[in-house]
Amino acid sequence: MTLKSIPLTDDLHRYLVAHGTPPDEILSDLARETLELLPEEASMQVAPEQAAFLTFLTRLLGTRQAVEVGTFTGMSSLAIARGLPEDGQLTCFDISEEYTSIARRYWARAGVEDRIELRIGHASDKLRELPRERYLDFAFIDADKTGYPIYWAELVPRMRPGGVIAIDNVLRHGRVVAPQSADDRAIAAFNDDVVADVRVDAVMLPIADGLTLAHVH
Ligand SMILES: C[S@@+](CC[C@H](N)C(=O)[O-])C[C@H]1O[C@@H](n2cnc3c(N)ncnc32)[C@H](O)[C@@H]1O
Repeated sequence: MTLKSIPLTDDLHRYLVAHGTPPDEILSDLARETLELLPEEASMQVAPEQAAFLTFLTRLLGTRQAVEVGTFTGMSSLAIARGLPEDGQLTCFDISEEYTSIARRYWARAGVEDRIELRIGHASDKLRELPRERYLDFAFIDADKTGYPIYWAELVPRMRPGGVIAIDNVLRHGRVVAPQSADDRAIAAFNDDVVADVRVDAVMLPIADGLTLAHVH
């Protein structure tokens, strides 16, 4: 097979970002405030072009019911909520009151707080409380990497036929092909499980740190 993908240099990445719809003032302020308040953790936030893609995808799927696992200061949840209709619902899971207190402020500023319910606690426990039916249109997994198999196991049976699960950080900054940590190994094993799961078709996109999209049959 010939190599059809090109390596993304810094120049090309800047060009790509400049040729998609730019983040608005609210997303830009959220990125800036997260960096100011949480400089060590700020890199956990999804990239601006990924936020734009999440809004696009949420809309494209006609999403009314969505779940997010791993909310942090709210960048991805804000992006997903903006893709929902006014009566749509996003249920967010995170263990941190501190991080998500920032998210709550930005949801309110963007006028989407009525569409979002935040559940605090270990997502592995909290996801089990969701209805046991196939009602979810879209789910986004971006929390602790060793928890991904549990989140997958809880979410796949709750996706409507044709629903999509997006999973972040599947390339581990390139280390997935030569894992160096427990998190790298967890993601490498998880990626193998996803591609072998007959309930889904999966594509892995080289956006940001790698994003798998799994279409549930
Ligand atoms: C990579 S960050 C999420 C970034 C977020 N999607 C964004 O765009 O800003 C991971 C988040 O997962 C949360 N987290 C870690 N372990 C968790 C667990 N067991 N259950 C729920 N949330 C967890 C952390 O508190 C953190 O906010």
